[in-house]
Amino acid sequence: EKGGYEHFMLKEIFEQPKSIKDCLRGRVISEQAHLALGGIRQYLNKLVNADRIIILGCGTSWHAGLVAEYIFEEFARIPVEVEYASEFRYRNPIIKEGDVVIAISQSGETADTLAAIELAKAKGAIIFGVCNVVGSSIARASHEGAYLHAGPEIGVASTKAFTAQVTVLTMMAIIVGHRRGTIKESLFHQLLVDLENLPVKVEKALKTNEQIKYISSIFKDARNFLYLGRGANFPVALEGALKLKEISYIHAEGYPAAEMKHGPIALIDEEMPVMVIATKDQTYEKIVSNIQEVRARKGKVIAIVTEGDKQIEAMADFVIEVPGTHEFLMPIISVVPLQLLSYHIAVMRGCNVDQPRNLAKSVTVE
Ligand code: M6R
Repeated sequence: EKGGYEHFMLKEIFEQPKSIKDCLRGRVISEQAHLALGGIRQYLNKLVNADRIIILGCGTSWHAGLVAEYIFEEFARIPVEVEYASEFRYRNPIIKEGDVVIAISQSGETADTLAAIELAKAKGAIIFGVCNVVGSSIARASHEGAYLHAGPEIGVASTKAFTAQVTVLTMMAIIVGHRRGTIKESLFHQLLVDLENLPVKVEKALKTNEQIKYISSIFKDARNFLYLGRGANFPVALEGALKLKEISYIHAEGYPAAEMKHGPIALIDEEMPVMVIATKDQTYEKIVSNIQEVRARKGKVIAIVTEGDKQIEAMADFVIEVPGTHEFLMPIISVVPLQLLSYHIAVMRGCNVDQPRNLAKSVTVE
């Protein structure tokens, strides 16, 4: 059942080229300029005409929501708020008739997310569910939605669900942006091609596995880790840190790289590995400066870069090269090495990768 892999988590990481392909199947056909989500029809206009979108989720699903905030705001120009379902439900949230909520949940059974959407529904919101498990409670409680089609995710650490969530949310944002006229026809076509190319690029990112195993052997005894990213890669920093915490029990924090100087920089010394997601995008030069700041304090820099990058290679202790794509699709590729790093470190530390202590696959209690 683990398909020859030692753990479900590793199997699921390596399944991603396929799970993303399954997620895109029939939904994107660039040659025909076709992009559609079969499950979102009746209420699509509500989404297209929304004044704002509220995204709800927990854990990794919340991180996927944060990535989606960047994507929706860029492509559809609709303001987005991303909320922890557990906070949203207990603070008398302001929701008006016709507001749109996107609820993200791999399992579709997370108690806080379910309760939050019931609350929003009672106040008149339209709920779109983005779930993996077909027929799950959140899928049933939603007005409409799109399934991930990622296949069962068994490892407690969410991996292929995250990349499929971001893929579905990206498709939604492009559909809405195209309808609203906030993305040009040429960009629309380019994005469809970029979506179709994702599986091959993720496959390439998986080729970093051996290198990451080596890097893991060097940092496996670290007590702390810092993860930095900017823009759409900022939530990826949060996600990388969460993966490391939950399966290897190493304390890790994710930060937007520019926030480092407002506090976390005080933590940096020769004992502190700093994972920087530094792929080529609008803020590339800024992140290069952030790397210099870490180096100046003797922090160890591991950088995820776009293949062919020479500038960061000369500065970082380790560089991990991944293929480039449109900057808002980059999280789907840049997260892969972080999944692998947490996996290998956890294995080397003798941790129970698929069933970390104190955790359950779906959190059905609040
Ligand atoms: O099933 P859900 O997506 O609603 O689960 C949400 C979180 O419990 C989940 O993402 C959790 O944070 C994972 N263990 C992270 O790897």
